[in-house]
Amino acid sequence: MKRRTFIKASGMAAAGGVLLNPANVIGNGLRSEKLKIALIGAGIRGTGFWGKTVQDQYGDIVEFVGLCDHNPGRLQLALKFMGVSCKTYGDFDMMMKETKPDLLIVTTVDATHHEFIIKGLEYGCDVLTEKPMTTDEVKCQQIIDAQRKTGKKVRVGFNYRYGTLFTKLKELLAEKRAGQITSVDFHWYLNTFHGADYFRRWHGHRNKSGTLLLHKASHHFDLLNWWIDSDPVEVNAYGKLEHYGRNNSFRGENCRNCNFKDQCKFYFDITKDPRLVQLYVENEKYDGYIRDNCLWRNEIDIFDKMAVQIKYANEVQVSYSLTTYSPYEGLSVAFNGMTGRIDSWQDLPWRDQEKVSQADRHAREMNQAAEDESSAYDEIIVSENFGKSELVKVPFVRGGHGGGDRRLQDQLFRNNNSPDPLKHAAGLRDGAMAILVGIAARKSIDEGRPVKIEELTDLKPGAERSSII
Ligand SMILES: NC(=O)c1ccc[n+]([C@@H]2O[C@H](COP(=O)([O-])OP(=O)(O)OC[C@H]3O[C@@H](n4cnc5c(N)ncnc54)[C@H](O)[C@@H]3O)[C@@H](O)[C@H]2O)c1
Repeated sequence: MKRRTFIKASGMAAAGGVLLNPANVIGNGLRSEKLKIALIGAGIRGTGFWGKTVQDQYGDIVEFVGLCDHNPGRLQLALKFMGVSCKTYGDFDMMMKETKPDLLIVTTVDATHHEFIIKGLEYGCDVLTEKPMTTDEVKCQQIIDAQRKTGKKVRVGFNYRYGTLFTKLKELLAEKRAGQITSVDFHWYLNTFHGADYFRRWHGHRNKSGTLLLHKASHHFDLLNWWIDSDPVEVNAYGKLEHYGRNNSFRGENCRNCNFKDQCKFYFDITKDPRLVQLYVENEKYDGYIRDNCLWRNEIDIFDKMAVQIKYANEVQVSYSLTTYSPYEGLSVAFNGMTGRIDSWQDLPWRDQEKVSQADRHAREMNQAAEDESSAYDEIIVSENFGKSELVKVPFVRGGHGGGDRRLQDQLFRNNNSPDPLKHAAGLRDGAMAILVGIAARKSIDEGRPVKIEELTDLKPGAERSSII
């Protein structure tokens, strides 16, 4: 099938309201021409995971036709770093009109995603956006309306779903190894390196990141929605800022110019990282974006501890928490079912053989060359009520978010006609349901009341998940 015909046909399927596999319009191994990609947001994620990695691994079937950012220095660096020679733009509309891409990739600051997703759909292309799809319910509704109107598709880059441990948990749940699931305990610990880093830049500002309930926890809410296989209906939450921001006796301008370098345990020397210097420090002159901001600055207005309870349409109840100043980074998750329980965890430091430096850990996770640490494994315990417990060992991959990064991109760009039995591919409704939990949690904290998901947009939660919007 010719490219244009294929896109038209898939557009018609979407316009009919049925999103089949949301992946299958994006890349297509069967295309006779390369998939034309335009990207907005030439920061670390845009030029790395969605830039250089895509160019290096899929350059035979995709072609970058335009890069856009309001920082001209980062745009020039992007060309070099990605190894491409396409045109660069400060003006998004001009890029879309001149390059007419098949796919737009959105990797800007979270609160701006909606603007480019909506315009991208209106310009007639499919859109792949980084999480969180957007940061409030009004923008979320606008994105839903735009997809309905245009018949084009939004895909959300939920890479965590594809990780080895999370996929194995999904398989065990689908096999009903603990029977019908009734409740879930899910706790995520960000350490004093990775957790702290969110408070150094735009993520610390609610009007840019929507708080970590959107920026970070939307990954986790998506995992919960996918594992539980139902839609969230009601959320009750608590949250507070009591460690970072104004909660310190001293503060500086930024780490490079700080008078408290010797006494601040969070001192971060950006000059030791050449990639960060090139990306941010050398381009501060264009937009004043300071990457090593003081994490004690008074303007920080997000929560640094969060507790969220979620009720699902299939009656499952969830207790979730997110901590941002833990001595180690990790997670624990447990699924309670009618006939047993499934427990798992990652990186809790009692397992000596898997101890890694906490400073090193995040860099290794973000590394897209998924290193296989073949002797290591993640653990899942499947326990039967009145019966035995079984240890399930899952091959451990730290690089590229548990190997999920590579599998997500392979599915998107190369294998999108292959079966997707566990429904890894995430479309607009998945993107919306994940952020709606975060938005409801933020509202619940602000207003001191439980918030219903159906208050937020016109999407109606269903006992079984669906892709229809
Ligand atoms: N899925 C994951 O694991 C993962 C990991 C990291 C980042 N992300 C997501 O990727 C996105 C980018 O994050 P990042 O760490 O690369 O941030 P970043 O600050 O490094 O990059 C953002 C870029 O967008 C540009 N930009 C911002 N607003 C713009 C606008 N209105 N017009 C034009 N350009 C604009 C900035 O100049 C910058 O170059 C975020 O949405 C983030 O949530 C996802």
